[in-house]
Amino acid sequence: MKIDHDKINRLIQLSRSQTYDPYTRFSWPKDIPLDCLWCDEDLLTTYGTEIHKNLTEEQLFLLSKWETIHFFSLNVHGIKSVLEFVCRCFYNKRYTQISEYLHIFLAEENSHMWFFARFCHLYGGKLYPTLQIRTPSTSDDIENDLYSFASALIFEEFVDYYNQKVGRNKEVPDIVREINYQHHVDESRHVAFGREIIRKLHNEILSNGADEEQQMRISLYFKKLIIHFTGLMYNPLVYADTGIVETTHFRNSAAFRNFIRNSPERNIFHHAWFTRTVEFFRKCGIVNDAPFFHT
Ligand SMILES: [Fe+2]
Ligand SMILES: [Fe+2]
Repeated sequence: MKIDHDKINRLIQLSRSQTYDPYTRFSWPKDIPLDCLWCDEDLLTTYGTEIHKNLTEEQLFLLSKWETIHFFSLNVHGIKSVLEFVCRCFYNKRYTQISEYLHIFLAEENSHMWFFARFCHLYGGKLYPTLQIRTPSTSDDIENDLYSFASALIFEEFVDYYNQKVGRNKEVPDIVREINYQHHVDESRHVAFGREIIRKLHNEILSNGADEEQQMRISLYFKKLIIHFTGLMYNPLVYADTGIVETTHFRNSAAFRNFIRNSPERNIFHHAWFTRTVEFFRKCGIVNDAPFFHT
Protein backbone atom coordinates (compact mmCIF):
# COMPACT_ATOMS: atom_id res chain seq x y z
CA MET A 1 0.00 0.00 0.00
CA LYS A 2 1.40 3.37 -1.05
CA ILE A 3 0.86 5.68 1.89
CA ASP A 4 1.28 9.44 1.87
CA HIS A 5 4.02 9.63 4.51
CA ASP A 6 3.84 13.41 4.84
CA LYS A 7 0.17 13.19 5.66
CA ILE A 8 0.66 10.49 8.30
CA ASN A 9 3.64 12.34 9.82
CA ARG A 10 1.59 15.52 10.02
CA LEU A 11 -1.13 13.63 11.88
CA ILE A 12 1.44 12.20 14.29
CA GLN A 13 2.85 15.69 14.96
CA LEU A 14 -0.64 17.10 15.43
CA SER A 15 -1.55 14.35 17.87
CA ARG A 16 1.61 14.98 19.87
CA SER A 17 1.06 18.72 20.02
CA GLN A 18 -2.60 18.34 21.02
CA THR A 19 -2.14 15.56 23.55
CA TYR A 20 -3.71 15.76 27.03
CA ASP A 21 -4.22 13.64 30.11
CA PRO A 22 -7.77 12.24 29.82
CA TYR A 23 -7.87 11.53 33.55
CA THR A 24 -7.44 15.19 34.46
CA ARG A 25 -8.89 16.83 31.35
CA PHE A 26 -12.47 17.15 32.69
CA SER A 27 -14.11 18.37 35.90
CA TRP A 28 -16.75 15.80 36.69
CA PRO A 29 -19.70 17.28 38.63
CA LYS A 30 -21.49 15.06 41.17
CA ASP A 31 -24.59 15.20 39.03
CA ILE A 32 -25.96 17.07 36.02
CA PRO A 33 -29.10 19.21 36.30
CA LEU A 34 -32.19 17.99 34.51
CA ASP A 35 -33.64 21.43 33.90
CA CYS A 36 -31.98 21.93 30.53
CA LEU A 37 -31.25 20.09 27.29
CA TRP A 38 -28.05 18.00 27.14
CA CYS A 39 -27.78 18.42 23.36
CA ASP A 40 -29.10 20.67 20.60
CA GLU A 41 -32.84 20.18 20.27
CA ASP A 42 -32.56 19.22 16.60
CA LEU A 43 -30.32 16.29 17.56
CA LEU A 44 -33.15 14.63 19.47
CA THR A 45 -34.53 11.70 17.47
CA THR A 46 -38.11 12.93 17.79
CA TYR A 47 -37.27 16.35 16.33
CA GLY A 48 -39.38 17.39 13.34
CA THR A 49 -42.19 14.90 14.03
CA GLU A 50 -45.71 15.54 15.35
CA ILE A 51 -44.77 13.63 18.50
CA HIS A 52 -41.96 16.06 19.25
CA LYS A 53 -44.30 19.04 19.17
CA ASN A 54 -46.46 17.43 21.86
CA LEU A 55 -43.63 16.67 24.30
CA THR A 56 -43.47 18.80 27.44
CA GLU A 57 -40.30 20.67 28.35
CA GLU A 58 -39.59 18.12 31.11
CA GLN A 59 -39.97 15.24 28.65
CA LEU A 60 -37.55 16.92 26.24
CA PHE A 61 -34.98 17.40 29.00
CA LEU A 62 -35.31 13.76 30.05
CA LEU A 63 -35.12 12.54 26.46
CA SER A 64 -31.95 14.60 25.93
CA LYS A 65 -30.39 12.98 29.01
CA TRP A 66 -31.11 9.36 27.95
CA GLU A 67 -30.23 10.00 24.32
CA THR A 68 -26.89 11.45 25.45
CA ILE A 69 -26.24 8.31 27.54
CA HIS A 70 -27.23 6.22 24.54
CA PHE A 71 -25.08 8.20 22.11
CA PHE A 72 -22.06 7.93 24.39
CA SER A 73 -22.76 4.18 24.84
CA LEU A 74 -22.74 3.81 21.05
CA ASN A 75 -19.32 5.45 21.07
CA VAL A 76 -18.03 2.97 23.64
CA HIS A 77 -19.24 -0.03 21.59
CA GLY A 78 -17.99 1.49 18.32
CA ILE A 79 -14.54 2.14 19.79
CA LYS A 80 -14.31 -1.38 21.26
CA SER A 81 -14.78 -2.99 17.86
CA VAL A 82 -12.41 -0.54 16.11
CA LEU A 83 -9.73 -1.29 18.69
CA GLU A 84 -10.09 -5.05 18.26
CA PHE A 85 -9.46 -4.57 14.58
CA VAL A 86 -6.57 -2.09 15.04
CA CYS A 87 -4.82 -4.51 17.41
CA ARG A 88 -4.80 -7.10 14.65
CA CYS A 89 -3.25 -4.59 12.20
CA PHE A 90 -0.29 -3.24 14.22
CA TYR A 91 2.42 -5.54 12.92
CA ASN A 92 0.71 -6.78 9.82
CA LYS A 93 3.12 -6.29 6.92
CA ARG A 94 0.57 -4.26 4.99
CA TYR A 95 0.39 -1.67 7.77
CA THR A 96 4.01 -1.30 8.89
CA GLN A 97 4.10 2.23 7.46
CA ILE A 98 1.24 3.34 9.66
CA SER A 99 2.05 1.21 12.70
CA GLU A 100 3.28 4.21 14.70
CA TYR A 101 0.15 6.17 13.96
CA LEU A 102 -2.02 3.17 14.87
CA HIS A 103 -0.43 3.16 18.34
CA ILE A 104 -1.36 6.82 18.78
CA PHE A 105 -4.84 6.18 17.41
CA LEU A 106 -5.35 3.33 19.88
CA ALA A 107 -4.22 5.45 22.84
CA GLU A 108 -6.58 8.25 21.83
CA GLU A 109 -9.53 5.92 21.33
CA ASN A 110 -8.81 4.25 24.65
CA SER A 111 -9.10 7.68 26.30
CA HIS A 112 -12.36 8.34 24.49
CA MET A 113 -13.80 5.03 25.56
CA TRP A 114 -12.83 5.78 29.15
CA PHE A 115 -14.47 9.21 29.32
CA PHE A 116 -17.61 8.14 27.44
CA ALA A 117 -18.09 5.10 29.68
CA ARG A 118 -17.38 7.11 32.82
CA PHE A 119 -20.03 9.63 31.81
CA CYS A 120 -22.63 6.90 31.18
CA HIS A 121 -21.97 5.18 34.49
CA LEU A 122 -21.80 8.37 36.56
CA TYR A 123 -24.91 10.06 35.19
CA GLY A 124 -26.94 7.16 33.79
CA GLY A 125 -25.82 4.24 35.94
CA LYS A 126 -25.31 2.06 32.85
CA LEU A 127 -24.23 1.60 29.27
CA TYR A 128 -26.93 0.80 26.75
CA PRO A 129 -26.31 -2.40 24.76
CA THR A 130 -25.93 -2.17 21.00
CA LEU A 131 -26.63 -4.19 17.86
CA GLN A 132 -23.89 -5.48 15.57
CA ILE A 133 -24.07 -5.48 11.80
CA ARG A 134 -23.09 -8.64 9.94
CA THR A 135 -20.01 -7.99 7.78
CA PRO A 136 -19.77 -9.99 4.54
CA SER A 137 -16.92 -12.44 4.86
CA THR A 138 -14.82 -12.67 1.73
CA SER A 139 -11.59 -14.38 0.79
CA ASP A 140 -10.06 -11.00 -0.09
CA ASP A 141 -8.12 -9.71 2.94
CA ILE A 142 -7.97 -6.17 1.57
CA GLU A 143 -11.73 -6.10 1.12
CA ASN A 144 -12.23 -7.35 4.69
CA ASP A 145 -9.92 -4.62 5.99
CA LEU A 146 -11.69 -2.03 3.86
CA TYR A 147 -14.96 -2.94 5.60
CA SER A 148 -13.42 -2.51 9.04
CA PHE A 149 -11.76 0.83 8.24
CA ALA A 150 -14.90 2.05 6.46
CA SER A 151 -17.13 1.08 9.34
CA ALA A 152 -14.83 3.04 11.68
CA LEU A 153 -14.76 6.06 9.37
CA ILE A 154 -18.51 6.22 8.77
CA PHE A 155 -19.11 5.98 12.49
CA GLU A 156 -16.48 8.64 13.28
CA GLU A 157 -17.87 11.10 10.74
CA PHE A 158 -21.40 10.56 11.95
CA VAL A 159 -20.37 11.04 15.59
CA ASP A 160 -18.41 14.12 14.64
CA TYR A 161 -21.49 15.79 13.19
CA TYR A 162 -23.09 15.52 16.63
CA ASN A 163 -19.90 16.38 18.57
CA GLN A 164 -19.29 19.54 16.57
CA LYS A 165 -22.74 20.91 17.29
CA VAL A 166 -22.90 20.08 20.99
CA GLY A 167 -19.24 21.01 21.48
CA ARG A 168 -20.01 24.65 20.74
CA ASN A 169 -23.45 24.81 22.39
CA LYS A 170 -23.20 27.19 25.37
CA GLU A 171 -26.58 26.07 26.76
CA VAL A 172 -25.70 22.44 27.54
CA PRO A 173 -24.05 21.45 30.87
CA ASP A 174 -20.27 22.10 30.87
CA ILE A 175 -19.20 18.46 31.12
CA VAL A 176 -21.40 17.52 28.15
CA ARG A 177 -20.04 20.37 26.03
CA GLU A 178 -16.42 19.66 26.98
CA ILE A 179 -16.60 15.94 26.16
CA ASN A 180 -18.19 16.64 22.80
CA TYR A 181 -15.70 19.38 22.04
CA GLN A 182 -12.65 17.29 22.95
CA HIS A 183 -13.87 14.33 20.96
CA HIS A 184 -14.47 16.53 17.94
CA VAL A 185 -10.89 17.89 18.09
CA ASP A 186 -9.41 14.38 18.27
CA GLU A 187 -11.71 12.87 15.67
CA SER A 188 -10.85 15.43 13.00
CA ARG A 189 -7.41 13.77 12.87
CA HIS A 190 -8.91 10.26 12.80
CA VAL A 191 -11.23 11.19 9.95
CA ALA A 192 -8.29 12.48 7.88
CA PHE A 193 -6.45 9.22 8.59
CA GLY A 194 -9.46 7.00 7.81
CA ARG A 195 -10.07 8.74 4.50
CA GLU A 196 -6.45 8.30 3.46
CA ILE A 197 -6.49 4.56 4.25
CA ILE A 198 -9.81 3.92 2.57
CA ARG A 199 -8.73 5.63 -0.66
CA LYS A 200 -5.59 3.51 -0.71
CA LEU A 201 -7.29 0.19 0.09
CA HIS A 202 -10.03 0.78 -2.45
CA ASN A 203 -7.52 1.71 -5.16
CA GLU A 204 -5.61 -1.46 -4.37
CA ILE A 205 -8.75 -3.56 -4.75
CA LEU A 206 -9.44 -1.93 -8.11
CA SER A 207 -5.89 -2.35 -9.38
CA ASN A 208 -6.03 -6.02 -8.35
CA GLY A 209 -8.78 -6.34 -10.95
CA ALA A 210 -12.02 -6.15 -8.95
CA ASP A 211 -14.88 -7.52 -11.02
CA GLU A 212 -18.38 -6.10 -11.13
CA GLU A 213 -19.65 -8.53 -8.50
CA GLN A 214 -17.02 -7.43 -5.99
CA GLN A 215 -17.63 -3.76 -6.64
CA MET A 216 -21.39 -4.24 -6.20
CA ARG A 217 -20.82 -6.13 -2.95
CA ILE A 218 -18.65 -3.32 -1.59
CA SER A 219 -21.12 -0.64 -2.66
CA LEU A 220 -24.02 -2.54 -1.11
CA TYR A 221 -22.22 -2.96 2.20
CA PHE A 222 -21.58 0.79 2.45
CA LYS A 223 -25.26 1.43 1.99
CA LYS A 224 -26.06 -1.14 4.65
CA LEU A 225 -23.61 0.48 7.05
CA ILE A 226 -25.24 3.87 6.73
CA ILE A 227 -28.72 2.44 7.18
CA HIS A 228 -27.44 0.49 10.18
CA PHE A 229 -25.89 3.55 11.85
CA THR A 230 -29.03 5.59 11.16
CA GLY A 231 -31.15 2.93 12.84
CA LEU A 232 -28.87 2.71 15.87
CA MET A 233 -29.77 6.25 16.89
CA TYR A 234 -33.36 5.20 17.60
CA ASN A 235 -33.27 3.05 20.71
CA PRO A 236 -36.52 1.66 22.19
CA LEU A 237 -34.79 1.33 25.57
CA VAL A 238 -34.23 5.10 25.60
CA TYR A 239 -37.89 5.81 24.90
CA ALA A 240 -38.86 3.36 27.66
CA ASP A 241 -36.47 5.02 30.15
CA THR A 242 -37.84 8.43 29.25
CA GLY A 243 -41.39 7.29 29.94
CA ILE A 244 -42.77 9.08 26.88
CA VAL A 245 -44.30 6.00 25.29
CA GLU A 246 -46.99 5.75 27.98
CA THR A 247 -48.22 9.22 27.08
CA THR A 248 -48.85 8.16 23.46
CA HIS A 249 -51.10 5.59 21.74
CA PHE A 250 -48.21 3.26 20.83
CA ARG A 251 -48.50 -0.24 22.27
CA ASN A 252 -44.82 -0.39 23.30
CA SER A 253 -41.48 1.36 22.92
CA ALA A 254 -40.51 -0.77 19.89
CA ALA A 255 -43.61 0.42 18.00
CA PHE A 256 -42.84 4.00 19.06
CA ARG A 257 -39.27 3.59 17.86
CA ASN A 258 -40.34 2.22 14.46
CA PHE A 259 -42.75 5.08 13.95
CA ILE A 260 -40.16 7.74 14.76
CA ARG A 261 -37.42 6.03 12.76
CA ASN A 262 -39.62 5.83 9.65
CA SER A 263 -41.26 9.24 9.87
CA PRO A 264 -40.63 11.08 6.58
CA GLU A 265 -39.86 14.27 8.53
CA ARG A 266 -36.72 12.55 9.82
CA ASN A 267 -35.14 12.09 6.37
CA ILE A 268 -33.73 15.59 6.28
CA PHE A 269 -31.81 14.85 9.50
CA HIS A 270 -30.51 11.49 8.28
CA HIS A 271 -29.29 13.29 5.21
CA ALA A 272 -27.53 15.94 7.32
CA TRP A 273 -25.78 13.30 9.48
CA PHE A 274 -24.31 11.42 6.51
CA THR A 275 -24.12 13.76 3.55
CA ARG A 276 -20.41 14.57 3.98
CA THR A 277 -19.55 10.87 4.24
CA VAL A 278 -21.65 9.84 1.27
CA GLU A 279 -19.99 12.57 -0.80
CA PHE A 280 -16.56 11.21 0.12
CA PHE A 281 -17.48 7.63 -0.82
CA ARG A 282 -19.01 8.88 -4.04
CA LYS A 283 -15.82 10.75 -4.95
CA CYS A 284 -13.84 7.57 -4.27
CA GLY A 285 -16.10 5.73 -6.70
CA ILE A 286 -17.30 3.34 -3.98
CA VAL A 287 -20.98 4.30 -4.23
CA ASN A 288 -22.82 6.16 -6.94
CA ASP A 289 -26.50 6.16 -6.13
CA ALA A 290 -26.79 8.33 -3.02
CA PRO A 291 -28.91 9.52 -1.33
CA PHE A 292 -29.76 5.93 -0.56
CA PHE A 293 -30.46 6.15 3.11
CA HIS A 294 -33.98 7.47 2.82
CA THR A 295 -35.57 4.23 3.92
FE1 LIG B 1 -13.05 8.48 19.39
FE1 LIG C 1 -11.69 8.08 16.32
